[in-house]
Amino acid sequence: MKVAVVGTGYVGLVVGACLAESGNDVICVDKDVAKVRMLRRGKSPIYEPGIEDLLRRNKAEGRLTFTTDLPKAVRASQIIFIAVGTPQGEDGSADLQHVMGVARDIARSMNGYKVVVDKSTVPVGTAARVREVIRRETTHPFSVVSNPEFLKQGAAVDDFMKPDRVVIGAEDEKAAELMVALHKPFTRTGAPIMVMDCASAELSKYAANAMLATKISFMNEIANVCEVYGADVDRVRQAMGADRRIGQAFLFPGVGYGGSCFPKDVKAIVKFSADKKYDFKILKSVEAVNETQKRLLVRKLEAHFGSLKGKTIAVWGLAFKPKTDDMREAPAVPIIKALIDKGAKVQAYDPEAMTVAKGIFPKGVTFVKKNYDALKGADALAVITEWQEFREPDFSRMRKLLKNPVIFDGRNIYQPEQMKELGFVYKSVGR
Ligand SMILES: NC(=O)c1ccc[n+]([C@@H]2O[C@H](COP(=O)([O-])OP(=O)(O)OC[C@H]3O[C@@H](n4cnc5c(N)ncnc54)[C@H](O)[C@@H]3O)[C@@H](O)[C@H]2O)c1
Repeated sequence: MKVAVVGTGYVGLVVGACLAESGNDVICVDKDVAKVRMLRRGKSPIYEPGIEDLLRRNKAEGRLTFTTDLPKAVRASQIIFIAVGTPQGEDGSADLQHVMGVARDIARSMNGYKVVVDKSTVPVGTAARVREVIRRETTHPFSVVSNPEFLKQGAAVDDFMKPDRVVIGAEDEKAAELMVALHKPFTRTGAPIMVMDCASAELSKYAANAMLATKISFMNEIANVCEVYGADVDRVRQAMGADRRIGQAFLFPGVGYGGSCFPKDVKAIVKFSADKKYDFKILKSVEAVNETQKRLLVRKLEAHFGSLKGKTIAVWGLAFKPKTDDMREAPAVPIIKALIDKGAKVQAYDPEAMTVAKGIFPKGVTFVKKNYDALKGADALAVITEWQEFREPDFSRMRKLLKNPVIFDGRNIYQPEQMKELGFVYKSVGR
């Protein structure tokens, strides 16, 4: 099929590359000239495992091209994905200006029947608004489809290639059939393609993200209660998760959730519920718990040292989670800012996110090229992101490099008994 994808960020780029991989002709459009130039050279502007292989292969096969020329891409395609950002607006709602702007531009470039797909995460009712905007601009026939994306950064290519489910909100059969055919190659192992109305599809995405954020905040509160009573959250988690109605996945406490999705999506669902006079009480608490949790390590460091003035803190991990360079809403940001505000110096390392991080912390943070270099002369190490390379470090080397053998583990990647035996002062979450 002939496909255009507008927006080549974490979602659009993966969608475009994966659709090309299954044999479609895909034109990816972005307004960011530098990004398009980079992509034309076969380079990915983001770190995402597997993406550059897909780019190179499909570019070489002539199935994947990049442009800033949206009208040309629209004219050449039958299915057009809108995968631009929907950042948080000032009042907590999703800012739809990019989605609506692209919808209008698509409409103005139509030269026949088109399926316009909302891939961005958008509030309930957006498909209807997109339909209205297009209707005002064109006399050509078209369908609007809501096709929310469930991929996880860090495993985005795998998630798109082998989805748990595909959700298609469609108001007419022709568009639904085209979308089902487009996704068939990715669901051979039996993952369901769920066709429903647009409002349900739109809400499915928010409901899924809000549930995952709820699990995180819930486990963070359980961990905090474990600490008060001297219980071990690992034991509690395993016992809870053994119940098949609960399951073991996503029950790990830590320093709070971040990233470009959970924070803004939780706020957006609260806001669009409130717009219809529904008070989403649980999600307001989920957000409040998360805000408190993001400062947990700083509180623990202060409790240990008294004052942080003049202390040097080594930080391992800056990205909001492993296998990505994304620092949007990363817990590392408020943690490091608080450390600096309190007079500490920070020596930070992340395998992928340092270039992005350098733009966020202009002063007060020293970025080092190797993980162990962060430890040199530091009063303590704070682990903020659970990258694989931090899991089995050389502890004796760490002891020698650190001024004090003190570790604050925000992701529970080490075992308290082992750390005690090795002579570390070790603080983790809920244990
Ligand atoms: N990042 C994720 O893990 C994830 C997962 C599922 C859904 N989503 C949703 O997908 C959407 C996109 O997220 P993202 O993380 O890929 O965003 P992103 O910020 O990484 O990328 C958005 C891209 O759109 C481009 N863009 C903006 N306006 C444009 C225009 N008028 N014309 C052409 N290009 C334009 C930007 O230059 C940018 O490259 C959001 O709604 C997000 O909530 C994200």
